Amino acid sequence: MIQPTEKNDDNDDIVQWVRNGIAVRVFGEAADASNSVAAEIASLIRQRADDGEQCILGLATGSTPVRVYRELIRLHREENLSMKNVVTFNLDEYFPMKPNAAQSYVRFMNEQLFDHVDISPDNIHIPDGTVTPDRVTEYCQQYEDAIDTAGGIDLQLLGIGRTGHVGFNEPGSEQASTTRLVRLCEITRTDAAKDFGGLEKTPQLAITMGVGTILRSRRIRLLAFGEHKSAIVERSVQGAISDSVPATYLHDHGNVEFVLDSAAASKLNPSTADVSH
Ligand code: F6R
Repeated sequence: MIQPTEKNDDNDDIVQWVRNGIAVRVFGEAADASNSVAAEIASLIRQRADDGEQCILGLATGSTPVRVYRELIRLHREENLSMKNVVTFNLDEYFPMKPNAAQSYVRFMNEQLFDHVDISPDNIHIPDGTVTPDRVTEYCQQYEDAIDTAGGIDLQLLGIGRTGHVGFNEPGSEQASTTRLVRLCEITRTDAAKDFGGLEKTPQLAITMGVGTILRSRRIRLLAFGEHKSAIVERSVQGAISDSVPATYLHDHGNVEFVLDSAAASKLNPSTADVSH
């Protein structure tokens, strides 16, 4: 049996191995996993600032990254982390969606991160849920162009939906897909329904970065916490690449880590790890 490839000296809780090109890091607690990713982001921001450069981050919403954002705010307040050199691109937004609506990802990001750090509002990009339907295609191309003009995403933070979606790239999405208007799966809408006061009030559509957009990022860190994510994490890491689980497209990338708590990792089998990567 192949043992996990590494134990981290600083934290006995961490177990890590590589499978299908994905580095899997398992922490005992979601809080420790989140702090570790926040520390990596902070280090990248500082490194870029020392070089006089901007740091381009791809950000996610939902419940999973909240603790990462909380830790970044703490680092800003208590450890002098500046986000003045940070440019952000969010993965997605419901469509249609007004920025001040309770469920808007603009509002989410402001409340969870942006209002509490020194990022310049000009550097924040979130897909616009108010674009008129006839302009969506053009708008999505502009979003792609803006990412390229900024120099590409240095680090993309991802969650994962129970359908295996990354961003809102639901099953059937193509590997080369770019930012576009998509239809949400029923499972995804059901998971979101509590935020909208019922399934019938939950949007059918969203604008999302594509799989291809995500794969252009230089590093990808996917977080998943809780037992309810364990089945899709298992299929994403150990399954074959398939459009029925879009997260499997990450196998090909080369710099992807799945950062998990032990509950989300509970169905993984480290004994099937790649011998080397
Ligand atoms: C959010 C996003 C989605 C979520 C996923 C998991 O911007 O792109 O892919 O990451 O639906 O959501 P939570 O974290 O709420 O379980």
